[in-house]
Amino acid sequence: MNLVLLGAPGAGKGTQGALLAGRIGAHKLATGDLLREAVRAGSELGRRAKSYMDAGELVPDALILDLVRDTLAQGDSDPKAIFDGFPRTVPQAESLNAMLRELGTPLDGVVVIDVPEEKIVQRMSGRRTCSDCGRIYNLHTDPPAKRDVCDVCGGKLTQRMDDHEETVRHRLSVYREATEPLIAFYENSSIPVHRVDGDRSVEQVQSQILERLGR
Ligand code: AP5
Repeated sequence: MNLVLLGAPGAGKGTQGALLAGRIGAHKLATGDLLREAVRAGSELGRRAKSYMDAGELVPDALILDLVRDTLAQGDSDPKAIFDGFPRTVPQAESLNAMLRELGTPLDGVVVIDVPEEKIVQRMSGRRTCSDCGRIYNLHTDPPAKRDVCDVCGGKLTQRMDDHEETVRHRLSVYREATEPLIAFYENSSIPVHRVDGDRSVEQVQSQILERLGR
């Protein structure tokens, strides 16, 4: 199944995407994770993307599309993916449709995770991510057993540069302006759009998604 996860920053796309990938046997393609990896590696892409990311702005479409094209090209012969954080603009969505058409594996659905903005600001202040395995925690709702240490691999937990309140509020306004219109874009296409209430527990959100997908 090829799926797009749509939702504001902090809506839970990464959390739900990781769970879903295991459940439906697809791999997760998260442009935010790929970009952060590029920044850590100090690659040309990382250097070009960093200032946009730190400021909570979108990285230019051309850079993102090259990144996704390269990642899909490196994949196996059955390129089923859960797209998390991509597409984020109408031109990205149009390019994704074209890329998947070329691969002969069209999009099966779009899942929109809805969460009120004030909840998001609160969630983001507590997010910590394992710098080794990428497991996502929340100090308020899903803390690690030992402070700053990943339960899964013992890696160090870190706070993202773009999770400070002012940047989160800016990312939310960028989402409203550039990414929210994608919901109408998909609703006006033949691709099924499934909306879920993301202001529930992680397990309840996952159940809603599986139910909407008929799993
Ligand atoms: P990216 O990494 O994609 O960030 P985002 O979309 O802003 O989303 P987040 O990763 O912040 O949140 P999420 O929805 O995955 O939530 P999570 O599961 O972590 O992008 C970062 C930057 O890269 C962008 O700003 C941009 O600069 C650039 N970029 C990336 N892709 C791009 C693209 N396509 N085009 C242009 N630029 C691009 O959950 C958040 C917190 O809430 C966690 O602590 C989690 O534990 C907790 N939580 C999750 N679910 C629940 C729940 N149900 N109840 C309570 N807490 C929960």
